[in-house]
Amino acid sequence: MTGNRQAVLLCEGLPVASVTEAQRLVFPRSEDLDQAWALGIFYLKIPDGLHLEGARQFGRGLLEVDSPYRKIPKYGDLEGFIALENNQQTKLALCRHHWEQHYPADITQFGRELDRVGIAIIREVLHQAGIPELLWERATGGYSSGAGTAFLNFVHYDTRHPDLGLRPHTDYGFVTILDATTPGLQINVNGQFEDVPVLPGHLVVNFGEALHFVTAHSERSVGAVVHRVLSQKYSDPVRHGIVYFANPDLEGMLWQFDVKGQVKGSSSVQDLFTLLETNLTEYR
Ligand SMILES: [Fe+2]
Repeated sequence: MTGNRQAVLLCEGLPVASVTEAQRLVFPRSEDLDQAWALGIFYLKIPDGLHLEGARQFGRGLLEVDSPYRKIPKYGDLEGFIALENNQQTKLALCRHHWEQHYPADITQFGRELDRVGIAIIREVLHQAGIPELLWERATGGYSSGAGTAFLNFVHYDTRHPDLGLRPHTDYGFVTILDATTPGLQINVNGQFEDVPVLPGHLVVNFGEALHFVTAHSERSVGAVVHRVLSQKYSDPVRHGIVYFANPDLEGMLWQFDVKGQVKGSSSVQDLFTLLETNLTEYR
């Protein structure tokens, strides 16, 4: 798709998808799916039964300095209560196997609901890619059938720092699902950052590098969109977000297949992420 076409598409607003009761990701028109796949980002109608308000309340509670959840221990660099360097974003981040230990039961349940949504999105991408279904599990390191390393993170932006909210980057995993109720998210289209407005009643979904890798030799690949969050100036209201990352297991493998099921390539997740770190330093 040409750059001009993409710019026109963005002016019309991002496409809107929904997840059916049968856990299928659907768009009202095929052009909407085309647009979503071209841009690597779309709105998702908040799925029925997703207990979003409770999760938002939990996220807001983290602003209390005496919140016990701010004392959740760090696991490595990626989990725990973390203030990022050179960004305004501060977050409580936990991957799936720590949810039950640290999150309240309703938040763990919320994460499980997003697990299902993430899998529905990934399965539709693989379906559109024409990769034979028997190979989906192997391609995604098991994610398409429930394995992998999902993160459920609660973020807010510390306006005492003059940094960008979040510096430009691509996400490394398969799919990111975002709930944010204030403006600030932008995506890069043809070298220019464009606003992604908040659409009430909707989440924002973007594709990541791992999904790009898996579909790279298929009939229909998806790209990881470069995005950032503008510097937040106001602390009333504080910009909050709930971010769910559907990521491959760091110890696992990803495989590339074509539509005939032929292996076209593979990588350990570690090697892919290391390569991305090297190639994307320009965004940092
Ligand atoms: Fe991101």
